[in-house]
Amino acid sequence: MDFQICSPLFHILLLPIFFMKSCVSETQMYPFTCSEKIQSCSALLYQHNGYQVDNVASLYSVNASAIKPIPYADRQDYLVSVNCLCQNVDGTQGYFYDVVYEPKHGDIFYEVSNQNFSGQVWSTGVNTSLNVGENKTLHLLCGCVEIDSQVVLTYTVQPTDTLSSIANQLSAQVDGIEKLNTYLKTPDFIKEGWLLYVPMEKYGLPSSEKGTKKAHKWILLIGILSSVTLLSVCSLAIILVGRKRRQSKNEDPKSSLKTSSARAHSLQRQYTQKELTQDITVFESEKPSFFSIEEIAEATGDFDETQIIGRGGYGSVYHGVMGEKEVAIKKMRSNNSKEFLAEIKVLCKIHHNNVVELMGYASGDDHLYLVYVYIPNGSLSDHLHDPLMKGHQPLSWSARAQIALDAARGIEYIHDHTKSRYVHRDIKTTNILLDEGLRAKVADFGLAKLVGRTNEDEFIATRLVGTPGYLPPESVKEMQVTTKTDVFAFGVVLAELITGQRALIRDNQEPNKMKSLITVVNNIFNEEDAASALQVIVDGNLKDNYPPEDVYKMAEIAQWCLSEEAVDRPEMREVVIALARIRMSSIEWEASLGGSSQIFSGVFSGR
Ligand SMILES: *[C@@H]1O[C@H](CO)[C@@H](O)[C@H](O)[C@H]1NC(C)=O
Ligand SMILES: *[C@@H]1O[C@H](CO)[C@@H](O)[C@H](O)[C@H]1NC(C)=O
Ligand SMILES: *[C@@H]1O[C@H](CO)[C@@H](O)[C@H](O)[C@H]1NC(C)=O
Ligand SMILES: *[C@@H]1O[C@H](CO)[C@@H](O)[C@H](O)[C@H]1NC(C)=O
Repeated sequence: MDFQICSPLFHILLLPIFFMKSCVSETQMYPFTCSEKIQSCSALLYQHNGYQVDNVASLYSVNASAIKPIPYADRQDYLVSVNCLCQNVDGTQGYFYDVVYEPKHGDIFYEVSNQNFSGQVWSTGVNTSLNVGENKTLHLLCGCVEIDSQVVLTYTVQPTDTLSSIANQLSAQVDGIEKLNTYLKTPDFIKEGWLLYVPMEKYGLPSSEKGTKKAHKWILLIGILSSVTLLSVCSLAIILVGRKRRQSKNEDPKSSLKTSSARAHSLQRQYTQKELTQDITVFESEKPSFFSIEEIAEATGDFDETQIIGRGGYGSVYHGVMGEKEVAIKKMRSNNSKEFLAEIKVLCKIHHNNVVELMGYASGDDHLYLVYVYIPNGSLSDHLHDPLMKGHQPLSWSARAQIALDAARGIEYIHDHTKSRYVHRDIKTTNILLDEGLRAKVADFGLAKLVGRTNEDEFIATRLVGTPGYLPPESVKEMQVTTKTDVFAFGVVLAELITGQRALIRDNQEPNKMKSLITVVNNIFNEEDAASALQVIVDGNLKDNYPPEDVYKMAEIAQWCLSEEAVDRPEMREVVIALARIRMSSIEWEASLGGSSQIFSGVFSGR
């Protein structure tokens, strides 16, 4: 039997099973942030529950004239025009349309939201019970934009949707949708049930297609789409085909012949993740640009010392401006060219929200210059350790939960979703940068080395790299570097987020000795009452404003990552799933505080 021929089918048949089994459903639903200029507007809600017009009218308390039918596949859906208001719902400021719902026997909030209002009811998570005889005000999410020619539609993603199919059906532009939904991690990935704000063009789309690269990408995608289409998993198929193509380009076809169980295993490893489609960014990856030394000199004011924002083991980092973009330029001695080229190769291929992006590079005299997008808010280390001295407010708990998740996603991406399997090798809080919204990006892949996917996970490093305090036992003892090396170091990062302490702390009893956070975490779980032991070491900067259960869960993940044996440590994708839950529950915890300004992080206000 020719495995090469039947394997794509094999992939497709297996996928839905893995999905049902292990996909964590994380509803993506964010209120639309109010603009100061707009108190209210006319907005649209998408209704796909298959009702008659008068039923929709009564559910939404609107006149029949406000309901416009719209065909979807073989179904009749509706656009419901409502008056969308900026209001404060249990501490969350945003645009909402309120309806009064009269609960019936056995009504459950989520069912009412999903089955009666197309999944568009905002839940604050505080109390969402529905009691018969108590009319309940439901807050439907809606949006307003300042552009007169547009109206915002609240849309719930349906199983076969892609961003471009949504845009086509609803007279919208894909980048317009991306702009209103900044949570979309990669432009092409959406999932059933996610809520999208779609800026519909009231007067239809402008006819002249923008001749940008972006448009071309979409044409490429749509082209591939239509050739693979008609499968309910078509978007997945694209990735699979993309992946296959790349695989077959790079591998001897014979070498990709594996036993079916090994294949199933690797499939599961690769696709159980909700963010699986991140790999599609391969379509977009562009070659880095070469810059001239003159351009670099101009950007940095002729390598002005005052522009230096950091010094690392590999050289200095300058702040600069190129065109209109702020950049960080890493200047390095080129006698280390192997490292530089490794870094360039890796970074060129990485486009991910949680990874600092390399714009290009220049080489000249005896130096090499890497040009990165500038991340304005400093490193996580600056925000955790003596933040006030560095001009930062201490991080709130929910900001920490978000940062942990962001950083985990960035690392997971380079582990699992890049074409080759990369290990960062130097994960630490100074290598995690924060932007204005306190969203984290992983930086500095200077130490990354390629680890072939065909190899087993082990990779023997030629020499020890990394930072003391973050190194796992096997790195120190046997000089082994695997993805589990990063997982271990990430465990230390989590411990820093929880305790606010540095990876290595001077021991109070023995001033000459350093104590490591690794020991601190392990000690907690050796205590009989781990929860109380944990409370003692939680960062004082949190001032008791944290949900103890979530902190405890994060500490458990830290301990898991810090397992002595590499095989006992989780994979980053498992860490991502666990942290996503913690982040979600931390948001709910924060919402339950009713937006007390001191605690409220502001992390989510940018949406
Ligand atoms: C429905 O229409 C009637 C008259 O046509 C109008 O008085 C009423 O305000 C409308 N209701 C809504 C919710 O628009
Ligand atoms: C809500 O949805 C359920 C399930 O589809 C249906 O039985 C019920 O009649 C709906 N309620 C209203 C008020 O339309
Ligand atoms: C939540 O709803 C239940 C009824 O289902 C009620 O007993 C409880 O008091 C409510 N809790 C809050 C905090 O409102
Ligand atoms: C709930 O609302 C309906 C109409 O929408 C009204 O007839 C009913 O009296 C209300 N019930 C309560 C308990 O307020």
